[in-house]
Amino acid sequence: MTTHFSYPDANLRHELKRIADAIVAPGKGILAADESVATMGKRLADINVENTDENRRKYRQLLFTTDKCLAENVSGVILFHETLYQNHDDGTPFVKLIRDKGIIPGIKVDKGVVPLMGSESETTTQGLDDLSQRCAQYKKDGCDFAKWRCVLKITENTPSYQAMLENANVLARYASICQMNGLVPIVEPEVLPDGTHDLERAQKVTEKVLAFVYKALSDHHVYLEGTLLKPNMVTAGQSCPTKFNAAEVAKATVQALSRTMPAAVPGVTFLSGGQSEEEATVHLDAINRCKAAKKPWALTFSYGRALQASVLRAWQGKDENIKQAQDELIKRAKANGAAAQGMYEWGSCKGFAADAGLFIKDHAY
Ligand code: 13P
Repeated sequence: MTTHFSYPDANLRHELKRIADAIVAPGKGILAADESVATMGKRLADINVENTDENRRKYRQLLFTTDKCLAENVSGVILFHETLYQNHDDGTPFVKLIRDKGIIPGIKVDKGVVPLMGSESETTTQGLDDLSQRCAQYKKDGCDFAKWRCVLKITENTPSYQAMLENANVLARYASICQMNGLVPIVEPEVLPDGTHDLERAQKVTEKVLAFVYKALSDHHVYLEGTLLKPNMVTAGQSCPTKFNAAEVAKATVQALSRTMPAAVPGVTFLSGGQSEEEATVHLDAINRCKAAKKPWALTFSYGRALQASVLRAWQGKDENIKQAQDELIKRAKANGAAAQGMYEWGSCKGFAADAGLFIKDHAY
């Protein structure tokens, strides 16, 4: 066993912790706007907008020119590579627009999932090879944090030992490379909601997956105070015949985290994982109200679909709808900001797509 190792030096530790703490400041969370070109294409197709560079740029411009009050509830935004290097109509780089609002830019650095040979359709995530150079460049270009998503599936025989071990290890390698380059790694082991499994099975799988992840982060000497976790909430499978209420989801989620996640980690930024906007807000609120276990970390949001569904529907690709779409974003961010403090009044935030199901089978991001 190796017990001789170093954490990053004091300056770097300070920088990483400062960023991580700022992202999970009370009442704040992340807007995940890091959809790949293909995924953005699906979102745009839903509102009959063609998937061109220019339309993706116009949509992201809508997000990033939202009134600066957005920063009261949004501390960070995750970008896709293409978006990081796009500009406003007037030539201002998006990354400057975001920073000037007091919002921290982040970047998706994984390169998607690939099959694990011999497994039952399980995957790992690729992108390590040139990661250090990319992280160094992203830091220079204004990013302070990164995201890498791994995916685990619940079936009768999965997740397998192979998938849990490999995904935990690749997340740990990613996290250490980010920290070396001054980026806070958001560690995202997503247990997918596909399937008929119940809440108890989802909880047990999430606990095991997180235990693997924190063992690997320790093995790689990752400085936990300068990381964030982006897990799934513990929910029953989409096709589970039994329905569980928000208090039950909250209890299962908080228990799973308390059993596996060190108190040194500043916070959890949950993904929405196909929940409707309102469901994702109510669940986050219930999690923050839950007293079933100790919660020594901030518990907030890093939502993609559950922050953008109403925005997209309100926009419809039309300039005259931009203001209305931006108002939807502000409303939902406020609701989630309240939920991150256990202060959301359930049902009070009505939106264009508040209750619409956002589940996508076998979801890729
Ligand atoms: P959803 O909130 O749409 O699940 O996505 C968040 C994300 O960043 C997934 O990687």
